[in-house]
Parts: sequence; structure tokens; C-alpha cells
Amino acid sequence: MDVVFLNGEYLPSEQAHLSVDDRGFLFGDGVYEVTPVYGGEPFRLDRHMARLRRGLRGLGIDYDVTGMKGIHREILSRNELKDEEMAVVYFQVTRGAAPRTHHFPPSDTAPTVYAYARRFARREAGEWNRGSSAITIPDSRWARTDIKTLQLLPSVLAQETARRREANDAIFVRDGIAVEGAHSNLFFVRDGVLLTHPASNQILPGITREAILELAGEAGIPVEERPLPSEELPEVSEVFLTGSTTEVRPVVRIDGRPVGDGRPGPVTRTLHGRFLDRIAEECGVALQTVA
Ligand code: PDD
Repeated sequence: MDVVFLNGEYLPSEQAHLSVDDRGFLFGDGVYEVTPVYGGEPFRLDRHMARLRRGLRGLGIDYDVTGMKGIHREILSRNELKDEEMAVVYFQVTRGAAPRTHHFPPSDTAPTVYAYARRFARREAGEWNRGSSAITIPDSRWARTDIKTLQLLPSVLAQETARRREANDAIFVRDGIAVEGAHSNLFFVRDGVLLTHPASNQILPGITREAILELAGEAGIPVEERPLPSEELPEVSEVFLTGSTTEVRPVVRIDGRPVGDGRPGPVTRTLHGRFLDRIAEECGVALQTVA
């Protein structure tokens, strides 16, 4: 039975109830985090907390994130996930429940805090080696995608379009620039240089993205953070996506055309291997690596 956290209580998910006046329900007025957990140990939870704090501040929601660590520990333990290779903790804060007005509710409205923890099946080596296929799609999101808000409809529609076209992922293109995936960040390799969109208001500053940039530096791989016009796509030799549940995912076809030789490339493999090693180091767990 799933045990969830809601407004200070741990309870079976069937017993967790929200007000129909909750602003998360009515407006998508809130923020969330998804933190990957390996062998019971959250990977870089401090970075997720810092990003949530920044998002809350950006939206003017008054919630102190310092209790998040304890909630993560407790919910993993109550769901008996300490020994799983991988799990995720979903953590969401909304502006709370109050009669519907577009402007903020009274200042004493308590935020709604919700979390769950579930087992997560990592991609198997065979699937990783086959790589992923993606479509490009116009980015119809708002202009502050650096805040991880609950308003995910453009991502939902993009991902559903990908599924209908029998692709695995969707890549958002804004003003001719391939910015990021529908739920992941985007990297390219061109002439041996690792490229990714700068951490502006047009992408979510991914915790995995940050780790990959750090690992590329350590591996001596040259990095450029610059916008990549989608018309340059035919010239890139490798493409991969990164994210808390995506880890490092090679993209081998975009809009039906192969990327490079149509197989995961050497830079992707190197960074993926180093990423798993870093997780193993920081979380104290051995992970199944990819051949
Ligand atoms: N998504 N960009 C977008 C739009 C995202 O939604 C995500 C994560 C990322 C990667 O960020 P990180 O490396 O910190 O997970 C980039 C989460 C996993 C989700 O919505 O489920």
C-alpha cells in the first residue's frame, strides 16, 4: 500500500484528500520536484531543494523547504524503498486552498504540501543501446520554464504527440532553437564539442544537466553552452537527453532521420558511464552499467 505525505501527515494514498478549492487543482498554481533515489539515498537532494526554494520565491509561495530532507527519508522508509536500486520521490507545493480568485488568496492560506515515493525501473542495457527516437515540436510553454511549475499541459501534449508518432520523446523548438525535451534537458555533440542550451528562462536548469556539465569538465570534453538552431541538427553526431528519471538517454533518430550513425555515440557513452559512477559514489550503491 502506498503511503503518501500530505500536509504534515503520512497516510495511505486512498485516505489522502484535497480540497476542491486547492489552487494546484484550479490553476496549476504550484511547483514540484522529482528526486531520483538510488539504494535508498536521494541523489543531490540539496540541489532539488535549492531549485524548489527558488521556484517558490519566484511565485511568491511561502514554504520553508528545510523539512524536505526529513520527509524524503521518512516516506522512503514507510514505503520500504531503502533497498530498491532506484525509486523517485515526487514533492509538490501549491499555494493552498481558498475560494477561487485569480489574485493571491489571504496571506494566512497554508500551502498544500504533498509527496509520494515509488519504485522506478531503470532502463535496461538493451533498450539503452537501441537508443531513443524523438520528434521536434513547437514550444508553446510560458516564458518562465526555468520554474518547475505544475503547469505541464504543453509537455503532456508534446509527449502524447510523440507517442502517437511512435517516438519516445519530444524536443521543444522555440524560434528555431532546439531548447530541451518535454521532460528532460538536451545535449548535442558537434565536431567533438558538447553543446547545450544556456540555463536561461527558456529551459529548466536540470540537476542532471548540471552533473553532466561537471563530468564533461572532468573528462576534458570541451563544452559550449549556446542555443542550437534546429537546422544544425543534421550536422550533429550525437544527441542525448538528461533528467532525474531519464538519466542519460541517447537519441538516435529525430523526426525519422538518424542522428550520426544511428547508434549511441562515444561522448554519450563516456558521460553516461561517468554519471553512473558518480551516482554510485555519492549514493553508495552499485548500478547496473550499460555494455
Ligand atoms: N522533469 N527539463 C524539463 C522540462 C523537465 O521537466 C525536467 C525534469 C528536466 C530535467 O531536470 P532534472 O535533471 O533536474 O530532473 C528538464 C521531471 C523528471 C518530471 O517532470 O518528471
